[in-house]
Amino acid sequence: MSTQTITSSQQAMDIEHEFGAHNYHPLPVVLTRGEGVHLWDVEGKHYFDFLSAYSAVNQGHCHPKIIHALTEQAKQLTLTSRAFYNDKLGIAEKYICEYFNYDKALYMNSGAEAVETAIKLARKWGYMKKGIAPHNAEIIVVEHNFHGRTTGIISFSTDPDSTKGFGPYMPGYKVIPYNDIHALEEALKENPNVCGFLVEPIQGEAGVVVPDDGYLAKAHALCKEYDVLLMADEIQTGIGRTGKILASKYDDVHADILILGKALSGGVLPVSCVLANDDIMLCIQPGEHGSTFGGNPLAAVVAIAALEVIKEENLTENARVLGELFRDRMRRLMEKRPEIVTLVRGRGLLNAIVINPNDQGQTAWDVCVELMNKGLLAKPTHGDIIRFAPPLVMTEDQLHECCDIIEEVIMNF
Ligand SMILES: Cc1ncc(COP(=O)(O)O)c(C=O)c1O
Repeated sequence: MSTQTITSSQQAMDIEHEFGAHNYHPLPVVLTRGEGVHLWDVEGKHYFDFLSAYSAVNQGHCHPKIIHALTEQAKQLTLTSRAFYNDKLGIAEKYICEYFNYDKALYMNSGAEAVETAIKLARKWGYMKKGIAPHNAEIIVVEHNFHGRTTGIISFSTDPDSTKGFGPYMPGYKVIPYNDIHALEEALKENPNVCGFLVEPIQGEAGVVVPDDGYLAKAHALCKEYDVLLMADEIQTGIGRTGKILASKYDDVHADILILGKALSGGVLPVSCVLANDDIMLCIQPGEHGSTFGGNPLAAVVAIAALEVIKEENLTENARVLGELFRDRMRRLMEKRPEIVTLVRGRGLLNAIVINPNDQGQTAWDVCVELMNKGLLAKPTHGDIIRFAPPLVMTEDQLHECCDIIEEVIMNF
């Protein structure tokens, strides 16, 4: 087998199986090209992308403006580390601060790194500003959270797949139920050492779980009352995905710490960011936190281009309008096949349907395989849920075409 070229899907899957760690269970499709909402496999078959790399490709695959920013900068300067200044980082910091209305930005790479950064920031603030005794800071999190895969983050995961076999776990976290404002108040009352409440405004990995209207606003009010930082993990929900630029905006919440990733690069390279005001961000001093690649000039220009595209192409509004159409079509489908589709939920273009196994014991996985055969790529989560999250550049006609495919598959399931 050549080490240079892949000529068939089977060959690509075999080589991955033989030489790659088995840490994912992908659908059996091998992609080689993407453009906008479209993907092609190595045999040339066309698909609509209905996952967007877990909401990282909001701007569509290989967006020309983002790729232009990437390639031009790649010829100029890619990495200096933060040992020196570069002429792009400051511009990207200013741009993102003004975009989301914060004093300061701290760029990192992956989402998990940004979450770790936010946790460190909240703890440091807790010790320096709230006066918590050393090593006593606690962060409240919620059940079924997903914030990444580091040993620190999985320490407060409630998903056995994430945690089993990876202990010991880090202390300093309290897990409460999601969407339960009373539980939050009790946890805050109970422990004066709480420095942060880390929450996804909509739980993406849990299966697009949308909390009650007002939950986040009430949570923020409680956080203020108890002098605790609200940390919004908008890595999956942010950057237009849910029909607002941030999902927290549905509750008019401006989080104390905002965590972004994924679509911050339009899926082009790993870039994440933590935003906060000076009283929080300046608690971290030189030498206390960083990353070799964090804040590199390549990521800086890509992030600016990716955020510009969201505004220039009105993608947030498109997500809102198409999301309503999508849920409407799915609800009508649920009425036709209530024994198979038991729930439709979501906001903007972050949606999920819950699938009951059919008479032959087939599950959401089999639905996704059939969707794939018919040219639409989506992935099940937690066995019975299918998340539907196409790039936000989708048109209304394309959305209807995709809904027709989903309908055909479900009607024949
Ligand atoms: C809400 C949320 N936080 C954090 C992460 C972790 O991001 P990454 O995979 O880039 O580390 C994810 C990824 O799915 C996520 O959805």
